[in-house]
Amino acid sequence: MPFNTELTRKLGIRVPIVQGGMQWVGYAELASAVSNAGGLGILTALTQPTPEDLRKEIRRCRAMTKNPFGVNLTLLPALVPPDYAAYARVIIEEGINIVETAGNSPGPVIRQLKAANTIILHKCTSIRHAASAVKLGVDFLSIDGFECAGHVGESDITNFILLSRARQSLGVPFIASGGFADGQGLAAAISLGAEGINMGTRFMCTIEAPIHMKIKEAIVEAQETDTELVLRRWRNTSRLFKNKVASEAVKIEKESTTGEFKEVAPYVSGQRGRQVFINGDKDFGVWTAGQVIGLIHDIPTCQVLISRIEREAIDTLAKAQSLIVDEVKSKL
Ligand SMILES: Cc1cc2nc3c(=O)[nH]c(=O)nc-3n(C[C@H](O)[C@H](O)[C@H](O)COP(=O)(O)O)c2cc1C
Repeated sequence: MPFNTELTRKLGIRVPIVQGGMQWVGYAELASAVSNAGGLGILTALTQPTPEDLRKEIRRCRAMTKNPFGVNLTLLPALVPPDYAAYARVIIEEGINIVETAGNSPGPVIRQLKAANTIILHKCTSIRHAASAVKLGVDFLSIDGFECAGHVGESDITNFILLSRARQSLGVPFIASGGFADGQGLAAAISLGAEGINMGTRFMCTIEAPIHMKIKEAIVEAQETDTELVLRRWRNTSRLFKNKVASEAVKIEKESTTGEFKEVAPYVSGQRGRQVFINGDKDFGVWTAGQVIGLIHDIPTCQVLISRIEREAIDTLAKAQSLIVDEVKSKL
């Protein structure tokens, strides 16, 4: 029985599962596989070096799926910021009508996309940021708990609190992100008021994810304790896979007497992290993963994964329903 939530209705998808934007992972191979399996696949705009490359990637993805897919546009602090307006223009010109936004000061980009009637899912790690995004007119909030991979924010609030706060106070439909890998998680998110879930790390561990098999195997072997929080000192906290480089970065961050970012910068290089996904050496640089690594035990296709999560969620919700008994009958 298909799900029928605000997310499935508005996005035109079968299963309320979104594959979150992932730098160096969110290519057409993964996004199209997720969409073909009934979820929402998302291309990561900044994985493409220029807006024109993004245009080509969108066209490539469209040739690989007839189902809806979206694009992630992440706005992060940078000395020379990418031309976000140009990326957004390509997204609009190519007829993409679902965009996941994330990061700082998203106002101008969200206004540009909303003027073209784009459905916006905005990712945030705090209720304060979520409330600002509501004022910008976003359609869905993607609430990223402290468990999540990547930028966890600075308030360290896990999804048990964040999701209920979202339900109680935001007045806009939301999906749950961070820590999800199975149908029990989807059922829990729905019970807390979410319209679906967003997953990142779980989708890295699928056949179609365009990263080295050894990295997928490293995730399967890892425990929930195998992540590291870096860059807290500069209020840009990121959750990374715990490896030699991440642990060294944390040590320098804690012990530095100058507190200068340049001491830690070579350790957290994005380019070395990108190489990890290509060469399969998990210790070559830092790379992002969430605490959910402790719940990931296999490397299925996206179709197998999404169908399994759908079935598990239905079974879990039915089991919960069966625990509610008629008071009169139960006494007979
Ligand atoms: C390898 C990797 C790269 C990511 N890159 C981005 C990114 O560029 N932009 C973004 O908004 N989120 C990024 N994320 C976060 C995911 O979109 C998603 O919010 C997060 O993975 C959810 O937590 P989970 O990993 O527990 O499912 C990344 C996550 C991973 C695992």
